[in-house]
Amino acid sequence: MSASAAHPTISVTPQSPALGAVIEGVDLARDLSENTLDELKDAFGRYSVIFFRGQDLTPQQHIDLAERWGTININRFFKPLEDFPKIAQVIKEADQKENIGAVWHTDQSYDEIPAMGSILYARKVPEVGGDTIFSSMYLAYESLSDGMKDMLGGLKAWHSSRHAFGYGATDREHYEDGRFANPDLATQDALHPVVITHPITGRKALYVNTDFTVRFDGWTIEESKPLLDFLYAHGARQEFTCRFHWEPGSIAFWDNRATWHYALNDYHGKQRIMHRITLEGVPLN
Ligand code: SIN
Repeated sequence: MSASAAHPTISVTPQSPALGAVIEGVDLARDLSENTLDELKDAFGRYSVIFFRGQDLTPQQHIDLAERWGTININRFFKPLEDFPKIAQVIKEADQKENIGAVWHTDQSYDEIPAMGSILYARKVPEVGGDTIFSSMYLAYESLSDGMKDMLGGLKAWHSSRHAFGYGATDREHYEDGRFANPDLATQDALHPVVITHPITGRKALYVNTDFTVRFDGWTIEESKPLLDFLYAHGARQEFTCRFHWEPGSIAFWDNRATWHYALNDYHGKQRIMHRITLEGVPLN
């Protein structure tokens, strides 16, 4: 697809019927005009994750881009890039087995005000493998039965960082090799509606995820598990997804309130280096 009435200065090509669009005709290293920024924001709202290829950004240009959009949230668990604490490194070395993000999740739902999204920039990626899959939590919600929607609409759920980043997780390879740090800061538990109204689009979205949601409020973990397991399997249905293959210079910018993502760990023996900047969100309801 080329430039359109909604996006006269950029080209927007949808990646699947569910979500995701590749944006062309913009050099993110340059200072964006207000018009182009507005068009990018519009595409972000419509497609929930926007992709760019062939971008050549210094770390400072990556930060400048993020700051045109919003306020940067510094992730307290990820190893920062030297001299650039606003950039988190998402790295897997050739001799490592565990990658970061190989479970369906939405970033930082354990925070009281979860991050709005992340701008992930590929520095070094395998030629084959290491793709990221995104799933639409709008479609996950909209495709539920009215009965299920009614029940979920009255529920809240607890999200936690403790099991993923706390002392219980320090024997993971991520901690042993320094990719993660600060287990003492994994104290955040947060209560969010199971169905949120998206702060930009006003659409309803399912807001539980496999990595960080622990139970429904007022329910035990055991009581919560069967329904959460159903929602996790439902949210991962292939027709809600799109898959992105990375090249050096690719960028994915996703909306945590409308999507899940899953980083495939199918490239053992190869190095993958990504730089991630996360943006602050707003309270969810
Ligand atoms: C993440 O979960 O933030 C990382 C995704 C990826 O490396 O593809």
